[in-house]
Amino acid sequence: MTVTAEAVELVVAAEPEIERLMGEHRERREHWYAHEVVPWEMGRSFRDDPWDESQATLSPEVRTALQLNLLTEDNLPYYHAKIAGSFPEDSPMAEWSRLWTAEEGQHAIAIRNYLLTSRNCDPALLEDERLATVTKGWSYEAPCPIEMFAYTSAQELATRISHRNAGVKADCPVAHEVMTRVAVDENHHFMFYRGVTAAMLREAPGLVLEAIHGALADFRMPGTGIPNFNRRAVIIARAGIYSLRIHAEQVLQPLLRHWRIESLDGLDARASELQEKIMAIPVALIAQAEAFEMRLERRSKTRSATA
Ligand SMILES: [Fe+2]
Ligand SMILES: [Fe+2]
Repeated sequence: MTVTAEAVELVVAAEPEIERLMGEHRERREHWYAHEVVPWEMGRSFRDDPWDESQATLSPEVRTALQLNLLTEDNLPYYHAKIAGSFPEDSPMAEWSRLWTAEEGQHAIAIRNYLLTSRNCDPALLEDERLATVTKGWSYEAPCPIEMFAYTSAQELATRISHRNAGVKADCPVAHEVMTRVAVDENHHFMFYRGVTAAMLREAPGLVLEAIHGALADFRMPGTGIPNFNRRAVIIARAGIYSLRIHAEQVLQPLLRHWRIESLDGLDARASELQEKIMAIPVALIAQAEAFEMRLERRSKTRSATA
C-alpha cells in the first residue's frame, strides 16, 4: 500500500473524531460581527481627504504586522482550494472546510475595515499588494493528507499568536478588540486540527510522525509570497510580535508537548528516528533565534556608540 492510500484510510478512520471535534467547535465558537468592532464612526472619504501617513495612529511596526496578517488572510481562496481539494465532497472534512472557510472570510473583512476607517494603511498600496499577493497565489505540496493536519495545527496557532500580539502592541483598544476576535477564531481552528492530528497519532504513530516531521522541519508561514515578506518579517520579529523564538517556544514546543511526542514508546526504528528529529526542530530554531538576537543587539550597540 502506498503512503497516500494508508494516509487516506487513516483520515477515514478518524472521521468520527472529526465529527465530534467539529461539533465541539460549533458549540464553543462564539459568533461575532465585524461591523460591531470596526470603528465606522472614524471613517471618512478618501476622495475628499486623501490618505497621508501623518494620519496613521499606530506605530510603523504594528501597521506592518496588521498589513502582513491581512494580506495572509486575503489568500484564503488558495487555502480553501488546498483543504477542500484534499478530501471527498461528501466527507466530514469537506463540511469542516466549508465552515472553516466561512469563518476565516470574516478575518480579512474585519482587519481591512479597521485599517481603512482608522487610516492606518495606504489604501492604494494595500490594494496593489493584495492584487500582487493573490495573483501570485499559494501552494503547499503535502505528500499525504495527514501532513495538512500537522501543518494547519502549527499555522493556526502561529496565526493566533501573531494576531493577538499585534493587537496587544497596537496600544489602541479598538485594534486590540478586532485582533482579539480574530485570534480567538484562530485558536478554535487550531484546537480542531491539533485534535484530529492527536487522534490519528494514537492510531498510527509511525505514519503521523512522518507527516509531523514533513510539516514542521521546514515550516513556512503561508504569507511568504507577499511583497517584501522577509523585510516585514524582520520588523515584526524585532517588535516581538512574531519571531523564530516565538515560533519555537510558543508554537512548536507546546504542540509537541500536547501530542506527547517525546514520550511515545513502542515505536519501530524509523519512527524512533523521526521522534528524535522532531524533538530537535525547536532546539535548532532556538539556537538560530539566539544568533539573530545577538546580531540585533550588536547592531543596536554599534548604533548607540556612533550616535
Ligand atoms: Fe484567519
Ligand atoms: Fe484560522
